Amino acid sequence: MAHRLLKKLVGANANGARLYSSEVRKCTLIPGDGIGPEISAAVQKIFASASVPIEWESVDVTPVRGPDGKFGIPQAAIDSVNRNKIGLKGPLMTPVGKGHRSLNLALRKEFDLYANVRPCRSLEGYKTLYDNVDVVTIRENTEGEYSGIEHEIVDGVVQSIKLITEEASRRVAEFAFQYARDTKRTKVTAVHKANIMRMSDGLFLRCCREMAEKYPEVKFEEKYLDTVCLNMVQDPHQYDVLVMPNLYGDILSDMCAGLVGGLGLTPSGNIGINGALFESVHGTAPDIAGKDLANPTALLLSSVMMLKYMGLQSHAAKIEQACYDTIAEGKYLTGDLGGKAKCSEFTNAICERITG
Ligand code: NAI
Repeated sequence: MAHRLLKKLVGANANGARLYSSEVRKCTLIPGDGIGPEISAAVQKIFASASVPIEWESVDVTPVRGPDGKFGIPQAAIDSVNRNKIGLKGPLMTPVGKGHRSLNLALRKEFDLYANVRPCRSLEGYKTLYDNVDVVTIRENTEGEYSGIEHEIVDGVVQSIKLITEEASRRVAEFAFQYARDTKRTKVTAVHKANIMRMSDGLFLRCCREMAEKYPEVKFEEKYLDTVCLNMVQDPHQYDVLVMPNLYGDILSDMCAGLVGGLGLTPSGNIGINGALFESVHGTAPDIAGKDLANPTALLLSSVMMLKYMGLQSHAAKIEQACYDTIAEGKYLTGDLGGKAKCSEFTNAICERITG
């Protein structure tokens, strides 16, 4: 299963040949909150300039009250993703302590998007502490500490369950090794704390070890989470593909994003059996929302991952290069990258490179 999904993610068919298609495909768009609508509009504009054969189906995911009285994702949005099986998503605001669960979590659960993939690569033209960072974090996306099972035992004592299953651990491990194989990467590191959480992380680790045996050409290593954090900020070049349970992945992937220039630059894909949702990893940036100041790169590079997944390689390459070149030129950088350009100016510069 992971094999088939991964072939799609890297854009190759079963024989390894690149896929091309000019048929217009519908794609769900969740513009999101805060800066979401601005950066989504930027992506749509860039796609139009590159004549990408995609028709956007924009949906609103503002929670609605269901018959059971609980708030959830509107049915129309669920239907759209189920129909199209592919979507691009802007950031969603999660109200803190308001009683309903994160919509991001709900979307991942609803579509069983079990693997979160985040490539973190240094960008030419934007200097960070280290050059040539190129790591990919693969995070189990459906369980672990985020299984949402919490309760109060007695007054003042709460319990939160970290749920680890063999099924979910095995499928994300398989995904990581297959990803490494398909993208010609050489090493998978399983990140864990099995020295402390012997049973839960121990099970995750066992699944990774067993999967490693099926991919002898991919080097496998096991590292404690704390060691990886230390190594990553001292010398990120020693890592390649990293696979880990949910919470560790959430934290470590943001740390890796920091190494290549921050959240405004990092794309991600949430891959499941029945569909895939691609999203920028940053939040709604309420401090700059509505001011035309946001950097749309993370969402744009997420949309490039989406195009590769859909087999639209040439469109993906054209947009990706135009984005990299615009950043490398340094003339139209947004505030988060130390520039003065507006989101719309950066977007127009990319469009001009594409239409050239
Ligand atoms: P944030 O990522 O929205 O903002 C952190 C800082 O980064 C802010 O200074 C912001 O201006 C800046 N920033 C983020 N994205 C940027 C971009 N594209 N261009 C330029 N600057 C950018 O994180 P914060 O403030 O913790 O969260 C705000 C809201 O977003 C919360 O409601 C949170 O729950 C939600 N959130 C949603 C996520 C998602 O939908 N995947 C992920 C993270 C947070």
